Amino acid sequence: MALADGDDATGMDQFREIFDESARYRPNVGAAAYDQIISLEHLSEADVSGLGIDLGTTNTVVGTPEDGIVLNEPSFMLVREKEPHHALSIGIDARDLVGRNPVGVTPVRPMRDGVIVDLESARAFVTAVIKRAAPSRHYGLRPKGVFAVPAGATSLERRALLEVGHEAGLRKVGLIPEPVAGALGCGINPLEPRAHLVVDIGGGTSEVTAFCFGGMLSHRSCRLAGDELTNALSHYLRTEHNIIVGELTAERVKVGAPETAEGQSLVVEGRDAVTGRARLVTLETEEIVDALRPTAIGIVQTLAECLEDIPAQAIGDVMSEGLLVLGGGSLLRGLSQLLEESFGLPVKTAERPLTCVAEGATACLDHPEVVAAYSD
Ligand SMILES: Nc1ncnc2c1ncn2[C@@H]1O[C@H](COP(=O)(O)OP(=O)(O)OP(=O)(O)O)[C@@H](O)[C@H]1O
Ligand SMILES: [Mg+2]
Repeated sequence: MALADGDDATGMDQFREIFDESARYRPNVGAAAYDQIISLEHLSEADVSGLGIDLGTTNTVVGTPEDGIVLNEPSFMLVREKEPHHALSIGIDARDLVGRNPVGVTPVRPMRDGVIVDLESARAFVTAVIKRAAPSRHYGLRPKGVFAVPAGATSLERRALLEVGHEAGLRKVGLIPEPVAGALGCGINPLEPRAHLVVDIGGGTSEVTAFCFGGMLSHRSCRLAGDELTNALSHYLRTEHNIIVGELTAERVKVGAPETAEGQSLVVEGRDAVTGRARLVTLETEEIVDALRPTAIGIVQTLAECLEDIPAQAIGDVMSEGLLVLGGGSLLRGLSQLLEESFGLPVKTAERPLTCVAEGATACLDHPEVVAAYSD
């Protein structure tokens, strides 16, 4: 497994090896799905090219089988207020205007909790993402795409994503549950007859999912994740230090905490809540960690409840292999330890927690049987 436990081979190399070995296992797919596999196998070389897309609440990551990750940008789109469904720019340029946008233009987030809330905004955003990720590589051939979708997405939310993908110019669109894609991106074969438990702590949602042999065993999610941690920090600064900071500043402080060595401090700039003047505050790393702890405990405890739904036999697999944690929230200082204590299981953090879902979605372009198995 290409996890942060010292393996040399890349996740994809290992996955391919494991995958070839496991070809003897018949994936859990229906007749219609097998037709799809057969038709995809007969595509020509040029036809097979495509994009693996993780449209996250916070970050959008896109990969191609040829070049690996080709786009990794914040999920923001800059629009004119008069033309809310036309993207002026996307990604970091749009995100940097949060809290400092001039009159008439607004940075918007087209995804909420990992799903589409407004079809037209999402269409404009996905169209711009595809244009940037696959400029003119296909010489007129529209690429196909595999989107990673939250495991708990409703059929309406899944349909919305399929529709947006087609309308944004993708020729064929497949969906794969995010935890399955994340595991695949870490070198795990999701079709093997062995249970895996994955925790994904993203920006909008935290999810825990158990799966085995092409099917789901159990799933829980909560809307407490990275954004709530950022809000908790803003709230703490306001109540304990009387200072108001913007969303981007609070996010920078949260993300900066793990890199700051113990005993070190971080200077934060904001507006005094009483006088309205600019003011600097010095925060100790431990203070930041303490301010975030109650929210982090809330996330982890909610997820730990999922264990009750997992069959006993599957727990045995997870005990021996450990729980895989991914998503940007997994980088929070002390989180792995908290997960270990709450779940009572060994925890492994994905080597590339922010991109492994897109890497797995990209791998699905070469392995349509995985998409077919998890499409129900
Ligand atoms: N080093 C870090 N420490 C703490 N949090 C981090 C770190 N790096 C990124 N994050 C947080 O991770 C979150 C983004 O993670 P990710 O990109 O996995 O989310 P997403 O896939 O866009 O969201 P979702 O899966 O909910 O749709 C943000 O809230 C960000 O602040
Ligand atoms: Mg995500």
